[in-house]
Amino acid sequence: SIQNNVSSRSRNCLHIIIYKSTAFTLDGFVLILNIMSCSFPLNVPPEFCLSCGKTRAATFHPLFEGGLCQTCKDVYLEISYMYDDDGYQSYCTVCCGGREVLLCGNANCCRCFCVDCLDILVDPGASNNARYQDPWRCYMCQPLLQYGVLKRRHDWSLKLQEFFANDKGQEFEKPKIYPAVPAEQRRPIRVLSLFDGIATGYLVLRDLGFKVDQYVASEVCEDSISVGVVRHEGKIQYVHDVRNISRKNIQEWGPFDLVIGGSPCNDLSIVNPARKGLFGGTGRLFFEFYRLLSEAKPKEGEDRPFFWMFENVVAMGVNDKRDISRFLECNPVMIDAIEVSAAHRARYFWGNLPGMNRIFPFGKVRTITTRSNSIKQGKDQHFPVLMNGKEDVLWCTELERIFGFPVHYTDVSNMGRGARQRLLGRSWSVPVIRHLFAPLKDYFACE
Ligand SMILES: C[S@@+](CC[C@H](N)C(=O)[O-])C[C@H]1O[C@@H](n2cnc3c(N)ncnc32)[C@H](O)[C@@H]1O
Ligand SMILES: [Zn+2]
Ligand SMILES: [Zn+2]
Ligand SMILES: [Zn+2]
Repeated sequence: SIQNNVSSRSRNCLHIIIYKSTAFTLDGFVLILNIMSCSFPLNVPPEFCLSCGKTRAATFHPLFEGGLCQTCKDVYLEISYMYDDDGYQSYCTVCCGGREVLLCGNANCCRCFCVDCLDILVDPGASNNARYQDPWRCYMCQPLLQYGVLKRRHDWSLKLQEFFANDKGQEFEKPKIYPAVPAEQRRPIRVLSLFDGIATGYLVLRDLGFKVDQYVASEVCEDSISVGVVRHEGKIQYVHDVRNISRKNIQEWGPFDLVIGGSPCNDLSIVNPARKGLFGGTGRLFFEFYRLLSEAKPKEGEDRPFFWMFENVVAMGVNDKRDISRFLECNPVMIDAIEVSAAHRARYFWGNLPGMNRIFPFGKVRTITTRSNSIKQGKDQHFPVLMNGKEDVLWCTELERIFGFPVHYTDVSNMGRGARQRLLGRSWSVPVIRHLFAPLKDYFACE
């Protein structure tokens, strides 16, 4: 009997068929075979789409040498940051597809590679060999850069940023850079937080030592509001439904120095097959952010530092992303919470926070501890969310810890486990927001 060591899963993925009608074409196949029959080592030419095998690439592949055609690029943008319940990427790291994928056995890696990519790009027997390796390490974790024609970019983390941030054809003016305010002239910050959730913005500002003069929060979820009220002792001024906030309100409550928000993602996220997009359902709430941002911005001739930030999921339709960028007049940066915590949470951030485009300190501030690793899903472990009884409660505090909240932060007003998980599931990652807000220290008063 043949033992199969590496974890793999076969899938019958319907949405892949919708997005990706281009499985390896014969042409592509022939081309790859041609490349492989030449002398080794060889690079995949940049005009070659690594994903579908068509030659006409529209852009570069962010992780491996070679390109991506327009269709495959859009697929990559939309779904490469989708994760399954087992914690692993839903699709192949190279082609964003795959009938059968192999799961990397490296405890800190959640990547999958499909059997076809291994056999076509690495070596015809590569997937078979991989099945007998325990643990099997994926091509992002292997020591060498090149296996067959699959050559990992040495600067892949930069390329990844560039890939997600830049939309060719959508160039915007650079945001205005405000000179730093001399320390003695800095004033406490005044914040308008839309879709405030569990007051992550307030928590981070206070953690960073900012004096907060005013924090006006729009939020409709009573559980979320309870967390903010209890944890921040009435310092947050709740103003409820964003749709009812008028220009007059903004004038009365303002002026604001910082406008932040991440609107609900359920109608934007690719994960939801019934999503209504940016112009339907909760997707439209983005326009409330846009409207109130426009109201809060300093008027002509009013010269004061003003900052804003809008957040949403990476796994959204490329057209929705493009439309959001057009309205906000900038491209987003992509930040994945895995860089600073033990869990993936890839998000786009639009805004004019100083240094927003500076590279996230990849790998340097990663603070994964053994304990959080143990709840990360190794190949034979189960997601604790599936456990019953005591562990369930533990899981809430683990989630809080992973996303940088004080332990028991959401444990207010007898809220149940399910409710706490829901709030944490859609919240920002505290260390990511810290990274983004820290440069505001040059402008506003701190303790
Ligand atoms: C993606 S979550 C934002 C979470 C937040 N960034 C955090 O760190 O907790 C979106 C939030 O928008 C809220 N929301 C939905 N409809 C709203 C509305 N009409 N007005 C204000 N908030 C709303 C939801 O209750 C939810 O908390
Ligand atoms: Zn392609
Ligand atoms: Zn693949
Ligand atoms: Zn790996």
